[in-house]
Amino acid sequence: MSKPIAPEGSHALPQSVAIPLTRAAIFLVVTAKPGAGNRGTIRSFCADLAALVRSVGFRELEGSLSCVLGFGSEAWDRLFGQPRPAELHKFHEIRAGERHAVSTPGDMLFHIRAQRMDLCFELATRIMARLGSAISPVDEVHGFRFFDSRDLIGFVDGTENPKAQEALDVTLIADEDPAFTAGSYVIVQKYLHNLADWNKLPTEKQEHIVGRTKLTDVELDDSVKPTYAHNALTKIVEDGKEIKILRDNMPFGHAGQGEFGTYFIGYSRSPRTIEQMLQNMFVGKPKGNYDRLLDFSRAVTGNLFFVPSATFLENIQAD
Ligand code: HEM
Repeated sequence: MSKPIAPEGSHALPQSVAIPLTRAAIFLVVTAKPGAGNRGTIRSFCADLAALVRSVGFRELEGSLSCVLGFGSEAWDRLFGQPRPAELHKFHEIRAGERHAVSTPGDMLFHIRAQRMDLCFELATRIMARLGSAISPVDEVHGFRFFDSRDLIGFVDGTENPKAQEALDVTLIADEDPAFTAGSYVIVQKYLHNLADWNKLPTEKQEHIVGRTKLTDVELDDSVKPTYAHNALTKIVEDGKEIKILRDNMPFGHAGQGEFGTYFIGYSRSPRTIEQMLQNMFVGKPKGNYDRLLDFSRAVTGNLFFVPSATFLENIQAD
């Protein structure tokens, strides 16, 4: 029997969720194999992850290496049981017309960030070596920062992200779920773009789809911004207050294979905020008034993970 994990107090420290953008990232999704031995391997790994990040990161202090670890709903039950995060569930797929937000397998997410890819790669290698046969890799994406923080559709991506204290306030759980303070929810989706068709659109049309100017990255005036613009559909207002999320999207691709993608990653205090954004994008607001980015972009993965606090991870005991 595993020892129960003590509920966290309000002094729990968060993982490196709200940090400045980096030049490189690896998004690694794995499944956890069943069995008590594998469970023990994963649990003891969790407690050691911070030390692993320190030992790789210390080799290049200016590299700002960090790693966020999240768990899917089924994996949470198998690895930790009760208590469980109040809003953790499997990613809900959405189907609407030609559009499909798929829900794909994934028990653990490693969001590894640094100023240099070698640091990310070294950490990913060490993580995989430590977990060994206790897990199976499902998806690994190496993201890079592109000119002026643009995504591969050519627009600056990340401008309206909250910063400093606001970034902490929108991502970290407080007293709404006292056993999991300083935790967070994260949704990831790997998108592939049809760049050939996108690049045939006149710039003005692209700007209407995104809701910002392409070269200068200025938000379109409400008098010209369509209601289907990406930044209109992803604006969530509750009780007169805008509810923001924290994104760290990264371009990725294989030029030789004509693969051009955006790895979407969004952190929030409640998964409902991002789920509402997805509903607006895929189904439309009102229904049918959907996000035209999806005419040129296809989601090929979709997962929801809970990111416990760093304190929670450190206190996990092996079986
Ligand atoms: C095809 C994948 C996506 C691409 C290429 C993309 C691109 C962009 C761009 C260029 C912006 C404007 C600049 C900025 O403020 O960052 C933006 C804003 C935003 N996106 Fe996305 N995005 C994608 C998917 C998503 C998804 C799946 C969500 C949420 C479910 C999302 C949520 C947001 C939000 C909240 C904003 C800020 C809106 C504002 O406050 O102005 N994006 N995105």
